[in-house]
Amino acid sequence: MTNDLMEKIVSLCKRRGFVYPGSEIYGGLASTYDFGPLGAELKNNIKKLWWKYFVQDREDMAGLDGGILLSPKIWEASGHIKNFKDALVECKKCHLRFRPDKLKDASKCPECGGSFTEAQLFLGMFKTIIGAVEKEGIQAYLRPETAQAIFADYKSVLDSTNKKIPFGIGQIGKAFRNEITTGQFIFRTLEFEQAEIEYFIAPDADWNKTFENWLSYIYGFADLIGLKRQDFFDHEIPAEERAFYSKRTIDIEYEFPFGRDELWAIAYRTDYDLAAHQKASGRNLEYFDEATKQRFLPHVIEPTFGIERTLLAILAGAYQEEEIKDGEKRVVLKLKPILAPYKAAVFPLLANKEDLTTKAREIYTELKKDLNVYWDDRGNIGKRYFAQDEIGTPFCITVDFESLEDKAVTVRDRDSMKQERVKIGELKEYLKEKLKM
Ligand code: GAP
Repeated sequence: MTNDLMEKIVSLCKRRGFVYPGSEIYGGLASTYDFGPLGAELKNNIKKLWWKYFVQDREDMAGLDGGILLSPKIWEASGHIKNFKDALVECKKCHLRFRPDKLKDASKCPECGGSFTEAQLFLGMFKTIIGAVEKEGIQAYLRPETAQAIFADYKSVLDSTNKKIPFGIGQIGKAFRNEITTGQFIFRTLEFEQAEIEYFIAPDADWNKTFENWLSYIYGFADLIGLKRQDFFDHEIPAEERAFYSKRTIDIEYEFPFGRDELWAIAYRTDYDLAAHQKASGRNLEYFDEATKQRFLPHVIEPTFGIERTLLAILAGAYQEEEIKDGEKRVVLKLKPILAPYKAAVFPLLANKEDLTTKAREIYTELKKDLNVYWDDRGNIGKRYFAQDEIGTPFCITVDFESLEDKAVTVRDRDSMKQERVKIGELKEYLKEKLKM
């Protein structure tokens, strides 16, 4: 049933333009995906909401948009060049590489049955060269997490704003990892977007309280995007499995259709990163507390989110098949209206009646000034409704012959399928109210 759901989501994503396999016309590139017209809208809506909730709504937060390319010294100092590695075995026959801890049978290759080499360490970061001449260029890396730009810029943010500790910096951006274990659609990909926060606190602050406060604030975001609390599980990572610098980490797991796995995470990273960058850069990264006249290196609580995993969880949670009458079924994405790619669709009852299409076009053009609305005049009304249900459009608006007389339209609600007559002059306000925008 659950794998079936995954297949249905993958198929819907391709068919309706949420997610396409990457580089498909060239036979594809494993573990890469492109977001189609609807996927791009949904992803942007998730990011906008995240930014509003975590950055703009909070006085103790500031935003940042750091580079994908950073000085390699940053990755040296943060420990990534040394530690961001996976132990992999290579099949002697087909030369595919695997993580031995992820193999069901570590004695032979699952692809061809060949035997394995000894495990070797492989860097999880993508390398690139800065400079026109390859052998004289600088060896650089595509960032495997957005967090490090925040640490590198933390002092500049302090100096250019009125922020005082405790405060945080939030950032959304691409991250790249040379993942070996792949699969499960957009769950684990080579290129993805992270939304991360580094929240700076005094070394003697009650870090556990801040950690707990952030955890509950994160669940507020889950509510906002319509993910159900009962589908979450806080996986407290035991000390022996945590990064050596972390005093507490929780993997915020979610019941995906293929099983429970990490969706987001929160970690207490101590002053590990700032101390490492202070040492390696030679710059003083201490904070001066005006009130106590103390200088210290702040400690950090880090909530981190994967945008694609969030999008996958949202689709899985919203996907429903309903029997409506006499065995007739519909697929409906019960997305929160604020996330829906299109807020409404506008139809003329018949495509070949000019007075209907002219009126419907007028309404469409007016709504489009404020809302992302869709135009459709193909097929019959029933088919148009189903096509919109499947992509989560909250409202469908039909202009019929009566509209020309009574200056009203039929508005059909995606979830209840109920229809209401609404005056054209009141339509925009009606939709905005219903959409809570
Ligand atoms: N700065 C901390 C950090 O990067 P992480 O747990 O390695 O922590 C954070 O990554 C989040 O990024 C994960 O919870 C997940 O949502 C997302 N993520 C990590 N690797 C991913 C991948 N290969 N594909 C898609 N999302 C990924």
